[in-house]
Amino acid sequence: MSDTLYDRLGGRDAISAVVDRFYERVVDDDQVAHYFDDVDMQQQRAHQTQFISAVAGGPVDYSGEDMEAAHDDLGITTADFDVIVGHLEATLEEFDVPEDDREAVLEAVGSYEDDIVTVPA
Ligand code: HEM
Repeated sequence: MSDTLYDRLGGRDAISAVVDRFYERVVDDDQVAHYFDDVDMQQQRAHQTQFISAVAGGPVDYSGEDMEAAHDDLGITTADFDVIVGHLEATLEEFDVPEDDREAVLEAVGSYEDDIVTVPA
C-alpha cells in the first residue's frame, strides 16, 4: 500500500491535534481573529480536520461548504491569507512535521487561494 501524505502526518488524530493548535494560534492573532468571532469553532475544527485529511489523500469525506462559498462573504485579503497559512506552517513545525510534508500541506491548501481571497492586496 502506498504511503499517503495523510498517513505520514499521522492520520486523523494527529491532523485533528494540528488543527486544534492551528486555530488556537489564529484566534490569538488580532489581525485575523475577528473573522472567527461568530463562528462555531467546534464545527470549524471538525470541518478543517476533514478538509486537510481529504486533500492529504486520506479516506475522509469533507462535509462542509466548498472553499469559495465558505469564504466569499468574508472579504479576505492576500495578507490575511498569508497570515493564516503562516500559522498553519508554524503549527506543522511545532508538531515536527518534516519540511517536505509541510510543503505538501501548504501547497495543497495554497491551491485554494483564488477561491478564498476576494480582496487581492
Ligand atoms: C489556508 C487556507 C484555508 C483553508 C484550507 C480554509 C478552510 C476552511 C474550511 C474547511 C472551512 C469550513 C467551511 C464549512 O464549515 O462549511 C472554512 C471556513 C471559514 N474560513 Fe477558512 N480556510 C482558509 C483560509 C481562511 C482565511 C485566510 C480566513 C480569514 C482570514 C478564513 C476564514 C474562515 C471563516 C471565518 C470561516 C467560517 C465561515 C462561516 O462559518 O460562515 N479562512 N475555512
